[in-house]
Amino acid sequence: MLLQKGLISVDQLSTPDINTILDRAKFYKARYKGKDKKVGGLNGLTMVNMFFEPSTRTRLSFELAAKRMGVHVVNIIADASAMVKGESTVDTIKTLNAMRPDALVIRTSQNGLPYEITRYTDAEVINAGDGTNEHPTQALLDLYSMREVSQDILSVAIIGDLAHSRVAKSNVKLLLNLGHNVKLISPPNWAPNPRDWGIEEYVSKGQCVMADELKVEDTNIVMALRVQKERFSDQHRGLIDLKSYNEQFGIRHGTLRDDQTLMHPGPVNRGVEIDEDLVYCPQSIILDQVENGVAVRSAILEHLLRE
Ligand code: NCD
Repeated sequence: MLLQKGLISVDQLSTPDINTILDRAKFYKARYKGKDKKVGGLNGLTMVNMFFEPSTRTRLSFELAAKRMGVHVVNIIADASAMVKGESTVDTIKTLNAMRPDALVIRTSQNGLPYEITRYTDAEVINAGDGTNEHPTQALLDLYSMREVSQDILSVAIIGDLAHSRVAKSNVKLLLNLGHNVKLISPPNWAPNPRDWGIEEYVSKGQCVMADELKVEDTNIVMALRVQKERFSDQHRGLIDLKSYNEQFGIRHGTLRDDQTLMHPGPVNRGVEIDEDLVYCPQSIILDQVENGVAVRSAILEHLLRE
């Protein structure tokens, strides 16, 4: 087992880990295109999905990945758990641990909670998104999707609400560590602090560029991010003018050349980050990202759980 204590941050991933996971994902993707999707390999293990924030694609993606491998999946619905009766998170995790799950997949609005709970469980903890911090499995499936498009050194533009985006933070760290170039484009008040993301060195050597104008001609991959209204303070929320955001930073007709690739982690606010009729335009690989998510998560489960 190469990864220690589950997968909490992309910082845990060495280049060989990444390559092994993405190579295996290729195998799973091919299998899942066929009728018989029961690949097995992890028969009899138990995975608990704890999603304390709304999620469709990530929760379902983990569930399908695990079930196809023979894992029993249990979903904890936040409203129905003892946590609403006032049980602390630590007590809930200790209680769960006593039932001997093999993996805990957690989505939470609290930065750092997945790391915190590794102290109270023997299960492999997988971070399915913690607040504005990290979303490592999304970054791996995005990298897999980018490599399907090009094996070369990539130049990736990531656009939008960067400061609130765990998807951006995990993607940026993973891409920069692998030697790719990243351009971060956002209105000035949504720019991340490079120190908080641990990327100052890449910014100072120019491998990561920060800009407040939508200029993407020098990139081959363009990733738009959701404007995450739920993460803004009440005062801030009132200040967002989605129409002018779309005019300045939205992907519109003429923004992309035919040879550029469009990505978005979903869910898309149509007409805000991407114009209505461009969400599934020929350059878009948004549905490939969803398909690849199941294969990459199977590869991650295998990497963490197979003896
Ligand atoms: C993202 C998330 O929840 O972090 N979505 C996802 O996991 N596919 C991005 C978002 O909600 O904007």
